[in-house]
Amino acid sequence: MIIKKSAAITFIVCCFLSANVQAQSKSPILVSAGKPIAEVQPTMWGIFFEDINFGADGGIYAELIKNRSFEFSMALMGWTVAQNKFNEGAVLVLNRQDLNTGNPRFIRVTKKNTEDSLSLTNEGFRGMGIKKGLRYDFSVLCRQQTPGLQLHLELLNASGDVIGKTVLSPSGKANEWKKEAISFNATDTAWKGKFRISFEGTGIVDLDMISLFPSDTWKHRPGGIRSDMIQLLADMKPGFIRFPGGCIVEGRDLANRYQWKKTLGPVDERHLIINRWNTEFAHRPAPDYFQTFGLGFYEYFQLAEDIGAEPLPILNCGMACQFNTAESVPLTEIDSYVQDALDLIEFANGDANTKWGKVRVSLGHPAPFNLKMMGIGNENWGPQYIDRLKIFFKAIKEKYPNFKLVVSAGTDPDGERFDYLNNEERKMGADLIDEHYYRRPEWFLGNAARYDNYPRNGSKVFAGEYAAQSDHTVSINNKNNMATAISEAAFMTGLERNAAVVNMASYAPLFAHEEAWQWTPDLIWVNNIQSYGTTDYYVQKLFSTNRGTNVVTALRDGKALTGQDSLYVSSVMDKNTNDLIIKVVNASGKEQTNTFKLDGSKKFASEGTLTTLQSNDLSSENSFAKPFNVAPVDSKIAVNKKQMIVTSRPYSFSVIRVKM
Ligand code: AHR
Repeated sequence: MIIKKSAAITFIVCCFLSANVQAQSKSPILVSAGKPIAEVQPTMWGIFFEDINFGADGGIYAELIKNRSFEFSMALMGWTVAQNKFNEGAVLVLNRQDLNTGNPRFIRVTKKNTEDSLSLTNEGFRGMGIKKGLRYDFSVLCRQQTPGLQLHLELLNASGDVIGKTVLSPSGKANEWKKEAISFNATDTAWKGKFRISFEGTGIVDLDMISLFPSDTWKHRPGGIRSDMIQLLADMKPGFIRFPGGCIVEGRDLANRYQWKKTLGPVDERHLIINRWNTEFAHRPAPDYFQTFGLGFYEYFQLAEDIGAEPLPILNCGMACQFNTAESVPLTEIDSYVQDALDLIEFANGDANTKWGKVRVSLGHPAPFNLKMMGIGNENWGPQYIDRLKIFFKAIKEKYPNFKLVVSAGTDPDGERFDYLNNEERKMGADLIDEHYYRRPEWFLGNAARYDNYPRNGSKVFAGEYAAQSDHTVSINNKNNMATAISEAAFMTGLERNAAVVNMASYAPLFAHEEAWQWTPDLIWVNNIQSYGTTDYYVQKLFSTNRGTNVVTALRDGKALTGQDSLYVSSVMDKNTNDLIIKVVNASGKEQTNTFKLDGSKKFASEGTLTTLQSNDLSSENSFAKPFNVAPVDSKIAVNKKQMIVTSRPYSFSVIRVKM
């Protein structure tokens, strides 16, 4: 035992000495904690939300019934009608266009004989996640034509067993629409559940907005959003949330663009449209993908407020997706688009005496949302975009001179299109230019110095969409793994070092449903019950939760570390907590030991925290089975005479925090 112990001590001493020798063979990295060179904006690290990959309907929007209002192109998509005896016309799809333009269709159920059986089953969005013991809230718009029918409501598991039930006896007067509601508990868990309504008795009843929500929504709001998914976002402490996209803002054509005014108010009046990702990729068809707008702009603002993120809405600039129809509104007819932008500012910030402020107040939010910025256009390009942008600029800046406008730099971070837009937008005095990079990991590793020579004055950069592609853009084989995570972390040290230029950044896309995705890679994966963060999620989270307030230099031989010896380093201080925060990425497969000399404070704590995301295998991933396969691990690090010896394991991203 004694022998073993001394052998272990000898081993540790040898390791320490060899690490020390390795560290001493290279010049130290000098961190000048006392000399802040730029501010890190509170908005620096944020999130990008788009209704892609079943991100909203079938994703964070917790509604379990697919096609609840029969407005999908195929009115009964998602529903199965079952009868023991075939009765033609037992379930009819009707239309009341004149009374409810947002939601014209409903169904009429007729049952003439008590002994017949008739039921409607909804399949959910790739099944329904049902949790044992949880309360489920059912509601329906109901009009009894001939009273007498009772609705038996049942949760089913994949085998068809009943795992929760209740009975609803409509109480409305004959011929009057009434919202009926009832709650009941699930007796078992099902990953791919269904919901059945069986009709007992005889009568005729009209039904619409057949809805079922779990009660464990975020903040337990009825008709709310999925708490496990939102918790993952809240845990990131994002500086902003960009919504609602992405290409969804543009639409395949202008009629299919996102129109925020149509997403407010009673959910049964919100006009559903086809989701543009429904038909985008022939290799990933999603014929049942629609936007019900149950999650609308009010809910997005509320979400931003809940998670402490600045709201960043992106509005259509009068142009549909240029990969699709490229339809553009004539300049002479652009006024309503511009008015939408002006009205949105009033909706978010105006008081109850303004037209749109009053709407917000009526929806339950008397206080303003303090909207400070907005994007005009997503991935738009060309002179046609600049022409439209100028009109928005003039109108918005005239009325709200300090309001910040985010503009698009197109689809790629380089090339003629990018250069043209970048020049024009800088000339216009754009506040933030939205650059997108969907590139291979090598690109991210090679571009950590991208912003070192960007102009310090004038327009700032919003790295609005980025993700390392393990295969290639829109390949179905893209995966988030240690290779993509490390390359993004390396690149992000460059964004942080250049916080004087880069004021905001967000990974994209955010969510993907295991069975219903169109685009990969994605930051967070979900199924009907679980959600997990990928390796890249932890990179985002570590940057965001260690944002700091000011950039300080971390230099070796007077130079920033932007990939020399596969090492990437950036550093910030946090004036609020008095912490020095150093981020170190070792993108090589070899362990590296470096000495960090700390400067700029009389004293540093003798010990700091070291949080590391690491794997020896670049192909390591997280999964539903192993959600924390690669996740940050905390340890301590010694600070001795203002010096730290930092051993960076192969393929690792570490965050060091030391009190000053
Ligand atoms: O993030 C997925 C898509 O990529 C976005 O909708 C679009 O802006 C970009 O092309």
